[in-house]
Amino acid sequence: MSEQIKSQFISALEFRHACKEFDSERKISPSDFDFILQSMRLAPSSFGLEPWQFVVIQDMTLREKIKEHAWGGQNQIPTASHFVVAMHNKGAGLRYDGPLFDEYLFKRRELPPEMEEKYRGFVEQFQENDFDLLQSQRNLDDWAGKQIYIPLAHMLIAAAMLKIDSCPMEGFNRVEVGKLLADELAIDAEVYSPAFLIAFGYRKNQQPNKLRRSLDSLVKWA
Ligand SMILES: Cc1cc2nc3c(=O)[nH]c(=O)nc-3n(C[C@H](O)[C@H](O)[C@H](O)COP(=O)(O)O)c2cc1C
Repeated sequence: MSEQIKSQFISALEFRHACKEFDSERKISPSDFDFILQSMRLAPSSFGLEPWQFVVIQDMTLREKIKEHAWGGQNQIPTASHFVVAMHNKGAGLRYDGPLFDEYLFKRRELPPEMEEKYRGFVEQFQENDFDLLQSQRNLDDWAGKQIYIPLAHMLIAAAMLKIDSCPMEGFNRVEVGKLLADELAIDAEVYSPAFLIAFGYRKNQQPNKLRRSLDSLVKWA
């Protein structure tokens, strides 16, 4: 049984590649796309804050506007069955005394006030000293920006398990795409920053050979 699971999992990882162009005639079923989104929802995050938002953009006019600022997605964005902009939280909302901690750490866990105070002090220490997040806003923003790559990995693997292709993309201008999302979808650029784009669909062309470093060069045992 476990051999079968290992083999299925590795096959999915081998199947996955950064698909450069999709067959625009083929669409992902709602149930399969929901499976991909569910995998995102179950991703872990520091203190369980889930400091992110995902926008599924099926409006082709808006996709075209995004494409103008996305050198890395010229063929992926217009041909994808589903296209997602992933945004992480930014700004003061990420601080130990901010609204995300209030909502998703303290309220959700229904901590009594004395526990909340103690826990908040602990988070403050972590942000201030251990991870040096409070010295600049950029440090705090990047903290959320790192975590959002975990749901990305979940989605890429979930898609590959269903033989759905994907392409994660950082080849775009974050400020310009942020402005577009603010203008077109009223997404507050002070609260969210676009982290990456992801296109999902079915490959048009054969996948190239996988290039990877050897395990020996990647892992040291001590
Ligand atoms: C964070 C990240 C950003 C990427 N940005 C782009 C991009 O903008 N455009 C693109 O075509 N591929 C992009 N890629 C795909 C990588 O180039 C690709 O994953 C890498 O070359 C390995 O190839 P493989 O995924 O096909 O195995 C990105 C991948 C990651 C993980």
